[in-house]
Amino acid sequence: MTRLSREPAISPPPAVARGSSSLIRLLPYLLPYRWRWVLMSIIALASTGATIVIPLMTRAVIDGPIRNQDQQGLWVLGAAAMGIGITEALLWFIRRWLVARATLGVEADIRKDLYARLQILPMSFHGRWQSGQLLSRVMNDLSAIRQFLSFGLLFLVLNLIQIVVVTAILLSMYWPLGVVVVVSVVPITLTVLHFQRKFTKLSRLSQDQAGHVATDVEEAALGMRVVKSFGREDYSFDRFDQKARALYDTEVNKVAVSAKFWTLLEVIPNITLILVLGFGAYAAGMGQVTLGTLVAFITMMLSLVWPIASLGFLLSMTQESFTAADRVADVFDATRDIHDGPIDDVPHGGRLELVDVGFRFPDTDAFALRHVSVTVEPGETLALVGSTGSGKSVLASLFSRLHDVSEGRILVDGIDVRDMSLTALRSAVATAFEDPTLFSMSVAENLRLGNPTATEEQLAEAIDVAAANFVYDLPFGLDTRIGEQGMSLSGGQRQRLSLARAILAKPAILVLDDTLSALDVHTEARVTEALERMLGDVTGVVVAHRASTVLLADRVALLEGGTITHVGTHAQLLADVPEYRYLLAADDDLAEAAL
Ligand SMILES: Nc1ncnc2c1ncn2[C@@H]1O[C@H](COP(=O)(O)OP(=O)(O)OP(=O)(O)O)[C@@H](O)[C@H]1O
Ligand SMILES: [Mg+2]
Repeated sequence: MTRLSREPAISPPPAVARGSSSLIRLLPYLLPYRWRWVLMSIIALASTGATIVIPLMTRAVIDGPIRNQDQQGLWVLGAAAMGIGITEALLWFIRRWLVARATLGVEADIRKDLYARLQILPMSFHGRWQSGQLLSRVMNDLSAIRQFLSFGLLFLVLNLIQIVVVTAILLSMYWPLGVVVVVSVVPITLTVLHFQRKFTKLSRLSQDQAGHVATDVEEAALGMRVVKSFGREDYSFDRFDQKARALYDTEVNKVAVSAKFWTLLEVIPNITLILVLGFGAYAAGMGQVTLGTLVAFITMMLSLVWPIASLGFLLSMTQESFTAADRVADVFDATRDIHDGPIDDVPHGGRLELVDVGFRFPDTDAFALRHVSVTVEPGETLALVGSTGSGKSVLASLFSRLHDVSEGRILVDGIDVRDMSLTALRSAVATAFEDPTLFSMSVAENLRLGNPTATEEQLAEAIDVAAANFVYDLPFGLDTRIGEQGMSLSGGQRQRLSLARAILAKPAILVLDDTLSALDVHTEARVTEALERMLGDVTGVVVAHRASTVLLADRVALLEGGTITHVGTHAQLLADVPEYRYLLAADDDLAEAAL
C-alpha cells in the first residue's frame, strides 16, 4: 500500500490556544545550559550598560574638557570612551558565541525528545497526522523556538530594561524633553499591540500551511512512480501549486502587515526627534540645559529607537515561538493509548490465545473484528484465510499491540499482552507486514532492525530461509544501501528481506502477513520449504491467499465478516466449507493434489 493510495489523512486537530504555557513547559530544556545563560545575561547586561554609558561620557567630554579647552582631560575621557566601546564590541562577540552553543543544544535536545515521542506514539496517532506536519514541527517550529530562546527572549528583556533605564535618565536630565519622549512611547505601544494580533493569526496560518507544503513534497517524492506512470504530473503540480500559493499569499500578507507596522515605527520616533530638537535648541538657548546634555539626550533618545522598534519584531517572534511551542506541545500531548505493562519477562513458550477479541478503530462505531476466539499452541502454525478487507492485517497487528483490543483478551503464554512491557512482547512477536517497508540504510542494517545483536551466521541463516540470497549479488553485498522505501529492489525482493528481518528476530511467535504474495511459484516453494522447517520450532500465524501458503499451516482459520467462522485443517475446510473452497478456488488443482 503506497502512501498515495491511502485516504487523505485528516489534518491534525488545531491546537487550543494555550499562549505562553506551552513555551514555559519547554523552559526546563534550558537547565543543562543554565550557567551559560547566566553568563550570557551578565555579558548582555554589561554591553547594554556600555550603550547607556557612552552618551553620558560624551556629555562629560563636551561639558568638561571641550568647553574648558582641557587637552589632557580630553585624552583621558576619550581613551576611556574608546575602551568602553571596544569592550562592548568584545562582549557582543562572546555573547553570540555563548548563545549559539547553548540554544543549538536546546534545539537538538527538544528535537531528540520529539522524535523519541513520535516513536512511542500509537499507530492511531500516525494515521491521523500528515507526515509533513510532523516534519515541519520537528524542523521549522523548533528552529523558531531556538531563535526565540537564543536572542528573542534576551533582547526582549534587555530592550525593556534599556527603555526603562534610558527613559528614567532622560527624565532626570531634563524632564520637559523627557516627557515628550515618554508621550511618544504611547502611540508606539498601541501600534505594536494592534499589529501583534494580526501577525499572530497569520503566523499560525503560515506555519500550518508550511506543513501542508512539506506533506505534499514528501508524498510527491514517495509517490513519484504512481504520478509518473499515470502521467499526472500536471495534476500533482497543480495540487502543490495551490498549497504553495496559499503559503505565499499568507507570507506576503505577513510582510504587508509588518511593512505597515515598521512604517509607523519609523514615523513616530522621527516626529519625536523633530520635537526634541526644536524644544532642546530653545532650552539650550535659554541656558536651561548644557550643550553636552542636549547632545547626550539626543544620542540616548536615538539609542531608544532601535529597542522600541525591534520590540514589535521581538513580540512577533515571541508570538511565533508561542505558536511553535503549541504545535510542538500538540505532539508531546498526543495521548499515548498503548502503555507498557508491568511484566518484563520475554515469553518463550509461544502459546497464543485469543479470547473473544473485538476491535474497532478509534473514532469509528463499527467493529472491524468481533468475537474472535482461537488458540495457537506452541510450535503450531495457523493460517488466516479471508477475503480481502476481512480484517486479517488488523488482527495480525493486535498480536504485537500496534493496536489494543477493544474487547476481549489476547494472551501469550497465558499472560494478557497488555500486562507485558512492549519491549518484552515485541521481542516475542515478530511480524513481516504485507507492505514491506525498508529504510534507506544498508541491507544488513535493515535486517538488524529485527535483531541488533545478530551474528553474521544468523544473518546468513535468515537470508537463506527467506530465499533472499540475491543480496549477495548486490554491488556491495550486505553493505549495499537500499533506497528509500526499498525502491531499487523488486517487490518480491523487498518481501523476502522483510521476511528475513522477521526471522532474524528469533521470535517465539512469527506473524507473516501475506509475505509470500509477490513471489513466483518456484521461489515461493523454496521459501515455503525453508519456512516449514523453521516454523516447526516457533508458533506461526500466516496470512494466506493461496493454497500453497496455507499448506505451511497445521490448521486454518477462516475469517469472515470480522470473525473467525471456521477452524480446521485445510482438508476439512475444503471439504465442509463452501466459502473456503470459493476463496481458494483458483488453487483447486493444487488443493486436490494436496488431498
Ligand atoms: N486505520 C484504519 N482506520 C479505519 N479502518 C481501517 C483502518 N485500517 C484498516 N481499516 C479497515 O479495516 C478492515 C480490515 O482491513 P485489513 O487491512 O485487516 O484487511 P485484510 O483482511 O488484511 O485485507 P487484505 O487481504 O487486502 O490485506 C478494512 O475494511 C479496512 O478498510
Ligand atoms: Mg491485509
